[in-house]
Amino acid sequence: MNNIIEQIGVTGGDVILELSYLIAAILFVIGLKLLSHPESAKRGNLWAAAGMLLAMITTLIFHRNNNGEHIALPNIILIIITITIGTIIGAIIARKIKMTAMPQLVSFYNATGGAASALVALMEFSNPNNTSVLVTLLGLIIGSVAFSGSMIAYGKLDGKVGDIFSPIMTYINLLFLAIIAGITVYLIFATEPSQGWIYALLALSLIYGITFVMPIGGADMPVVISLLNSFTGIAAAMAGFIYQNQAMILGGILVGAAGTILTLLMCRAMNRSLLNVIIGAFGGGAGVAANKEIGTIKEISLSDAAVLLSYSQKVVIIPGYGLAAAQAQHICSEMDRMLSDKGVEVKYAIHPVAGRMPGHMNVLLAEADVPYDKLIEMDDINPDMPNVDVAIVIGANDVVNPAALDDPGSPIYGMPIILAHEAKNIIVMKRGMGKGYAAIENYLFYHDKTRMLFGNAKDSIQKLVTEIKSL
Ligand code: TAP
Repeated sequence: MNNIIEQIGVTGGDVILELSYLIAAILFVIGLKLLSHPESAKRGNLWAAAGMLLAMITTLIFHRNNNGEHIALPNIILIIITITIGTIIGAIIARKIKMTAMPQLVSFYNATGGAASALVALMEFSNPNNTSVLVTLLGLIIGSVAFSGSMIAYGKLDGKVGDIFSPIMTYINLLFLAIIAGITVYLIFATEPSQGWIYALLALSLIYGITFVMPIGGADMPVVISLLNSFTGIAAAMAGFIYQNQAMILGGILVGAAGTILTLLMCRAMNRSLLNVIIGAFGGGAGVAANKEIGTIKEISLSDAAVLLSYSQKVVIIPGYGLAAAQAQHICSEMDRMLSDKGVEVKYAIHPVAGRMPGHMNVLLAEADVPYDKLIEMDDINPDMPNVDVAIVIGANDVVNPAALDDPGSPIYGMPIILAHEAKNIIVMKRGMGKGYAAIENYLFYHDKTRMLFGNAKDSIQKLVTEIKSL
């Protein structure tokens, strides 16, 4: 057996390496499966990380280049030093980051993944041993777009970058895509292309990433964020093909596939087509909904709110970005427990794009030990909204904005919402009359049935809890 293995040029190390990649791939899949539920998500992360660690260690020890040489010791030392520095920086950032800044961090990490894949492609393009030109070019393009696009997304989520919304952006984007495709075809067929073309492709792809994300505004960022995430996975898979590295290919494909599924789910949640996302320039603009008669704002006192809630049968809490910003999840969970103890049925209505990242509200409420069976998806809770005594909107805005249903001029028109306005009473908790992410007016706040409880969500709920206790 050993003889046969040696004759075909395979060593015991190669077998261990391939086997470790298979085990790593299995760990990735198990990790991904566990990530699909908040209760097991932490474990899922650890399983997948263990797979990655295994693949990294065996690669350092057993990887051989085309000439059959192992990685030189000084290079291994260099790699370990850089990994250690990266790990320390990553651990510090992850520990210090505020929960509300998590979406920006995810976008930033996504950008670094895209950049790494693009750099691999850039370096390997002129490597004579690299025969996969198309894959290398695709890795370069997709990785660069993922990098610059994610950096713009990071800036937008952080409020540092605004939207550039103009119909002309669609044509500019299509032009960029056509030039990128033209250069790619040229580089595939040219016998000895000048190095300048590959840099031109890199520059154009980076610019396209920017012009592609810049016009996307309104409430449509979730779609683009998950699309960029899938781009990074695909770019990593391309880098894996360049190096014929199964772990990289599989890891990249899993991220790409998961990102693509999430993109399609987000598209459905936002009622947008994927083509619109890719071409760009949709749904932006910060227009105010068409001339609609504005009612008056009515406030509710803490004691009235406490009485209303305590004597209700059904209460639905609709959390949004403001709940995360105020870090009010724990006190919100306490209010829920108090009301439940009084016999009130309390549920949470979860909109798929509430907050600033997919699953934001689930993660936040899981952190506060809210039982998962109380979190009801939008489609399941909406039919029951007319039977709800009080809908408490906590720091949510766009996801309960009825303009999405009845104002064709609104940039969020067509987006499914939680039908808070169908509840018998609506209490809205927010600091003032600030707009939501889509920067548009929300007529729910002026609705006959709506009463506002102004203040920071955490303070307001804290005071409300004290009132409920005193009843
Ligand atoms: P938003 O529409 O962003 O509204 C949040 C509201 O919370 C604001 O109107 C703000 O009003 C209030 N608020 C902020 N800080 C607060 C605090 N400390 N206490 C109380 N209230 C506070 O939130 P949403 O309804 O969750 O909608 C999410 C939006 O983000 C959607 O447009 C979605 O498309 C977009 N988006 C989502 C994602 C993902 S993947 N989920 C990613 C990017 C963008 P005041 O200033 O008056 O307090």
